[in-house]
Amino acid sequence: MSNPLDSPIFRMIGEIAAAHGQHAYVIGGYVRDYYLRRPSTDIDVVTTGSGVELASELGRRLRTRVSIFKTFGTAMLRAGGLEWEFVGARKESYSRDSRKPVVEQGTIEDDQLRRDFTINALAWSLNAPDFGELVDPFDGMGDLDRCIIRTPGDPDITFSDDPLRMVRAVRFATQLGFDILPETFEAIERNRERIEIVSPERIVGELNKIIAAPRPSIGFELLDLTGLLKLIFPELDRLKGVEVIAGKGHKDNFVHTLKVLDNVAVRSDDLWLRWAALLHDIAKPDTKAFDARAGWSFHGHETLGSKLVPEIFRRLHMPLNEKMKFVRKLVFLHLRPIILSEDEVTDSAVRRLLFEAGDDVDALMTLCEADITSGVDSKVQRYLHNFETVRAKLREIEEKDRIRNFQPPITGELIMSIYGLPPCSAVGEIKSRIKEAILEGLIANDFDQAHALMESIAQEMGLKKVSEAGL
Ligand code: CTP
Repeated sequence: MSNPLDSPIFRMIGEIAAAHGQHAYVIGGYVRDYYLRRPSTDIDVVTTGSGVELASELGRRLRTRVSIFKTFGTAMLRAGGLEWEFVGARKESYSRDSRKPVVEQGTIEDDQLRRDFTINALAWSLNAPDFGELVDPFDGMGDLDRCIIRTPGDPDITFSDDPLRMVRAVRFATQLGFDILPETFEAIERNRERIEIVSPERIVGELNKIIAAPRPSIGFELLDLTGLLKLIFPELDRLKGVEVIAGKGHKDNFVHTLKVLDNVAVRSDDLWLRWAALLHDIAKPDTKAFDARAGWSFHGHETLGSKLVPEIFRRLHMPLNEKMKFVRKLVFLHLRPIILSEDEVTDSAVRRLLFEAGDDVDALMTLCEADITSGVDSKVQRYLHNFETVRAKLREIEEKDRIRNFQPPITGELIMSIYGLPPCSAVGEIKSRIKEAILEGLIANDFDQAHALMESIAQEMGLKKVSEAGL
């Protein structure tokens, strides 16, 4: 591994700090990630004085602009392809019901003690003569070796100071495959209600990192075990459990959802496809019904589920943009390929799927393949084989008919100009019958055939061409 303190900027920071009678350190994620062999380009520098002054002096020497965040007493600059953040070493505690800290200047050890986890409190000295020396009073290195998430100080204080750290503990455990120390875990259980004071945006930041991890299920299981899930994601919590009537049970939809999420994670890094996996069965509790003959059913859960997607995004303060629409669409369509593959795979059904899914058809197929979580291997194989047929058919038909980004070959404007019509229902009807004929395979997706069909529909409707009427 290359030396993480290679850049001459590190020595420069140490010199400036020493000249001001301070001691500067690199701390946090950059140090941790070096030992974990993870790439990192964000560097946190802490100094036993003013972080803003240190950054300003460095900015002058490097001729680089410095951004100063007065309220937080921090400063940031970009140099050498890295992002540097500066802060003064702090001793701080938060008042009970807000995140506003009461800050006092402190030593490096005070600063390390107030950080979230021992593995995030590792520091390298930047001042000569001990440049590059590791400062680790809370045995973060031991915890890295043992793969443990542990708070440097009393966990009740650490979590009460910033309750988001409870979700961060789960996030790091998920990302790194670490265990949360039992004492730390119990403190999360005790303090979980405090999560209520944290903004949804910060929680979603951590949730996204859990979802983006190699096995996101670990995180959701931990959120459940700590009792945080019910507080931050009640819709998922409701998926838990199995009801049995007359000896018949349905599958546990929480367990199933997490399996689907992990399956998608193996196949795709797309965060939003993973969100779609997480939410694909979200309306099952609301649509659950039991019939003595047919057993359990969840009719319409894909439609209701797609309606819940914007509500959940809104509640979590996530943007209601095209990503949300993608998730909503996938939830809405997630049963379609399976229904299609159960029957004979007809061209028109495949055309309709292509029309509705558009460019997201590959993502939809990935979700559907991930959705096969039956324990019976032969069943899984049969479904996956059927999906292969669907995929092949999708390719074949797309090549032939180009339905994916369907643009009607005859536009409303053309119909209006040919028949001298204002915008009216007749125009809509002609367009929709042409579209249906293409999807059914009655005509090809091309201008001449669509034009001929338009003429026969118009004749049937008694419409006269402008050119004919003028004769
Ligand atoms: N930190 C903390 N409490 C928080 C957030 C951050 O004590 N609620 C401290 C930790 O020492 C952390 C550092 O601030 O290492 C930087 O935080 P952040 O950039 O959020 O996380 P990283 O540890 O850098 O991890 P990642 O880059 O994966 O988010």
